[in-house]
Amino acid sequence: MEAYILNWLELLLRCLHIITGIAWIGASFYFVWLDNHLQKPLAQELKEKGVDGELWAVHGGGFYNPQKYMVAPKELPQDLHWFYWESYSTWMSGFALFVVLYLMNAKTMMLDANVSSLNPSQAVAVALGILAFGWIIYDSVCRFFQTRDEIVGVIVCLLVIAVSYITCHLFAPRAAFIVTGAMMATTMTANVFFWIIPGQRKVIKSMRAGDAVDPIHGKRAKQRSVHNTYFTLPVLFAMMSNHFNMIYSHSGEWILLVLMMVAAVLVRHYFVLRHKNLNHWWLPTGAGVIIIGVAAFVAPPSLSIHGAPGDARTKVATIEDVELIVKARCLPCHSEKPTLMAAAPKNLKFDEQVAVEQNAMIIYMLVVRQRTMPLGNATQMTESERQSIQTWFEARP
Ligand code: HEC
Repeated sequence: MEAYILNWLELLLRCLHIITGIAWIGASFYFVWLDNHLQKPLAQELKEKGVDGELWAVHGGGFYNPQKYMVAPKELPQDLHWFYWESYSTWMSGFALFVVLYLMNAKTMMLDANVSSLNPSQAVAVALGILAFGWIIYDSVCRFFQTRDEIVGVIVCLLVIAVSYITCHLFAPRAAFIVTGAMMATTMTANVFFWIIPGQRKVIKSMRAGDAVDPIHGKRAKQRSVHNTYFTLPVLFAMMSNHFNMIYSHSGEWILLVLMMVAAVLVRHYFVLRHKNLNHWWLPTGAGVIIIGVAAFVAPPSLSIHGAPGDARTKVATIEDVELIVKARCLPCHSEKPTLMAAAPKNLKFDEQVAVEQNAMIIYMLVVRQRTMPLGNATQMTESERQSIQTWFEARP
């Protein structure tokens, strides 16, 4: 029963996290787009108002004419819309999901005896420590080097590479990817919470008091905001690739993660420049080369070694063969009385042949295609067993 409730919690949190994430990233993409498309106003009246850039857009049957004021308008409007709940709720739902999925199941989800000898409570403490210290180091670097953007940029890249290396040498690979992504996502939300929003509040406060507005607040917010822009796609990649084992279960996975994040940054950079009508095709091309290179590097041996299904050399496995494999490799977790887990995950129990038949598609997907099951290959399934499941599935009527 408890597992069942946790499943619902996970489903709802996942929905919430994705929805708020879309709202946050959507707003962030929109404002980057907006900023980069602004044109200097021609009308004298706008210049006098202090408008520094404007544009026209049509959407949903109406015309929009956003205008950007350098530093701030002369008079504050009554209603001012802020953008921060998107970010905070994305972080909170993500953190809750991280607790429910990983921290509460540290033994199965975070640990891997082949990687390190941490125990579950150490794993939880180290993961939380990485989230906190990642931010503290990042924030100190930004504070120390102020607006020397290149130096800050290089150190931030090195920090991400270091975290990717460290997590992959401490945690089970899936957890390593999630912690790396979560560290970056935490700095993104902390940027909004500690710098961007407070900076805006200070600007408004000095305006209300009738003082001159210090442009440093805008500059700082801008720097953090630029970092957030380039973090977005790498974070998404780190979190989503966690559902596909071809990268995270490969040796040297931390380098592969870094390479894929570089590809993600190139893609983002391409779009940032494209908004300014600069089409640097080498950026997406470079990203494509990296992705294809990584894909070729991690291609499973079965693609080349084993004969294609239907090949005379490949013996087609029967349901009885598959049942034996499932018994050895899956029942330790997915059964009425699991030995490796407290309760069958996702309430999936493969004790009966009919259950294996009913779940044939998802078993095939997770064991053969995505290779995410058995989880962390805890039960040491062999390549030929995966191939048996493949031949059985593909030969089914
Ligand atoms: C070490 C324990 C363990 C073993 C062994 C294991 N699983 Fe799982 N399985 C899990 C956990 C934990 C989850 C839920 C985690 C998740 O959603 O990523 C899961 C989820 C699943 C799901 C549902 C995925 C979804 O998204 O709904 C399927 C299907 C599955 N396992 C099939 C298998 C099969 C088939 C085997 C044997 C080849 C197997 N598992 C072996 C732990 C295990």
